Amino acid sequence: MQKNKVRKAVIPVAGFGTRLFPATKVVKKELFPIIDRDGRAKPVILAIIEEAISAGITEVAIVVQPDDQKVFEDLLKNPPKRELLNKLSPQNQEYSRYLEDLGSKITILLQEEQLGYGHAVFCAKDWVQDEPFLLMLGDHIYASDIEKSCASQLLNVYEQVNQSVVSLTTTPAENLHTSGCVTGVWQDLNSILEVTQLYEKPAIDYAQQHLRVQGMAENEFLCIFGLYLLTPKIFDFLAEHINQNFRERGEFQLTSCLDRLCQEEGMTGYVVKGQRFDTGLPDTYRQTMIDFKKL
Ligand code: UTP
Repeated sequence: MQKNKVRKAVIPVAGFGTRLFPATKVVKKELFPIIDRDGRAKPVILAIIEEAISAGITEVAIVVQPDDQKVFEDLLKNPPKRELLNKLSPQNQEYSRYLEDLGSKITILLQEEQLGYGHAVFCAKDWVQDEPFLLMLGDHIYASDIEKSCASQLLNVYEQVNQSVVSLTTTPAENLHTSGCVTGVWQDLNSILEVTQLYEKPAIDYAQQHLRVQGMAENEFLCIFGLYLLTPKIFDFLAEHINQNFRERGEFQLTSCLDRLCQEEGMTGYVVKGQRFDTGLPDTYRQTMIDFKKL
């Protein structure tokens, strides 16, 4: 096997989705419908899986709550009821067959307790084994500005640099509270960054003091876009935080482990040529419904 070939993707979908309560009392946010560019009404998770597969990923693991196992199996592993299948248009019957084939590439893993995003990633350790893997947020979908999909762009960068790659997007200061932020030194202006620090949801003051990137406007920063290409070393740091019960805001977070991975092995940041749509908040979900299909 080629050493830096990326075959596996992990998608954690075991969170509670509190920001979309009360809808998430009955529907997982990763199963909310979006209208994809092919015109189909799809659960968010399916668009994410298709993004991974289109980039050449051959095996996908999704991390779910035990109570949600059945609904994800029904979507991804089980054929529709015969009565429904018979009523579908020929095109949708064909899509249903394609879904069954897609299902054979998917493994469902459990996160028994909801102890945070980092903990959910750790639940995929034994499945990933000793390989680099693509990590994708369960509530973000992507539209590339160029022919290559966003995930595919990230895989290409990984193949060139052979170290972990984090996808980035330029973000105004007022949105820093929504995601992880990075700083570093440009290797290729506005495209490839040697990352020197990652910090989760910084306050604006902290970001202005520590996270400014040369050449960027004073009120603009680089934030995580939702896709990561990680070496399996990340699991050592996650294991350490879990064994030492090192929690941040009550949970086991990913970003502090990414920062340790960056210090130990080095990390590249890549400004993706494309847009991401965060479906995890009411307003951004609404905007996704309006804008996504148009792109
Ligand atoms: P979020 O930060 O969006 O958290 O998780 P959340 O709990 O799902 O949603 P809010 O913040 O309460 O509204 C990022 C990703 O990690 C998964 C989520 O499903 C989402 O795809 N996650 C989060 C887990 O799998 N397990 C967890 O314990 C927490």
